[in-house]
Amino acid sequence: MNSIGFEFVQSLSEELSKGTVKLPSLPDIALKIKNILEDPDVSAKQVARVIGSEATFTARLLKVANSAALNSSGTTIKDIPTAITRMGFKMAHSIAVAIAMDQVLNSHSMGKLDKYFKDLWRHSLNVAAFSCVVARKRTKIKPDEALIAGVLHDVGKIYLLARMEEYPELTEDLQTFEAVIAEWHTGVGAAILEAWRFSEDLVLVADEHEMLDRVPTNDQGGIRFEADLTDVVQAANLFAHAIEQGNEMDPEWTEIESFKRLKLDEELIHEIMVQSKEEIDSIVSALQG
Ligand SMILES: [Fe+2]
Ligand SMILES: [Fe+2]
Repeated sequence: MNSIGFEFVQSLSEELSKGTVKLPSLPDIALKIKNILEDPDVSAKQVARVIGSEATFTARLLKVANSAALNSSGTTIKDIPTAITRMGFKMAHSIAVAIAMDQVLNSHSMGKLDKYFKDLWRHSLNVAAFSCVVARKRTKIKPDEALIAGVLHDVGKIYLLARMEEYPELTEDLQTFEAVIAEWHTGVGAAILEAWRFSEDLVLVADEHEMLDRVPTNDQGGIRFEADLTDVVQAANLFAHAIEQGNEMDPEWTEIESFKRLKLDEELIHEIMVQSKEEIDSIVSALQG
């Protein structure tokens, strides 16, 4: 790593340990929606009122509610209360977060790093879609929970990209730049999600999704043998990277512990990557707005 990279990493780790790191804030509308959805006594009508006040959000929510993956009934959902009743508060929350991420990402247009932001957004949506499918096929985890985890798993990268604006020399050295992102995005992402008060499960996803030898624990602190949300996102992340690079499935995937916990064999992986393409595309395009 060059000296600029070292300087960047040093100031970052200092801020993280002192808790003085300036984290991005969740956009207003997402915050409002998040707060109302967390109120246990809230009614679908009240939620609809908050959501209905935001045109982009309304349009996107209906699009997602009507995507092939979530609406198998074939009848088009035309209003927000029905959409929310059908998809649930959590799903509405996921979409609020997805839109918030989109806004954060698109408010940063900075020439050189622009492509990184765009690719990251597309990648997050791919991981969200794959997570949704993997969760449904292999676990009891709700697809909407998997979706939100996928959208947020690399949130630390957004922060790092934005911070790197202050260090233009760092972005000139591609190797250092990529090494810093690879090494730091998980811890930084976990810190952001903690600051945004997302659930422990989601914080863990940000923290451990790149850790191929992770050993998940259960509530009692013992070893967990069933797949958890982080396993789902870990597999989805590898699928998404492969697709983005135009690669096929990697036969070594089945050796990874998370794949074993998910009971993903070659046949199933193929099914998810090839036959689920339409479903993946429908989720991605709905979230994209
Ligand atoms: Fe990652
Ligand atoms: Fe990723």
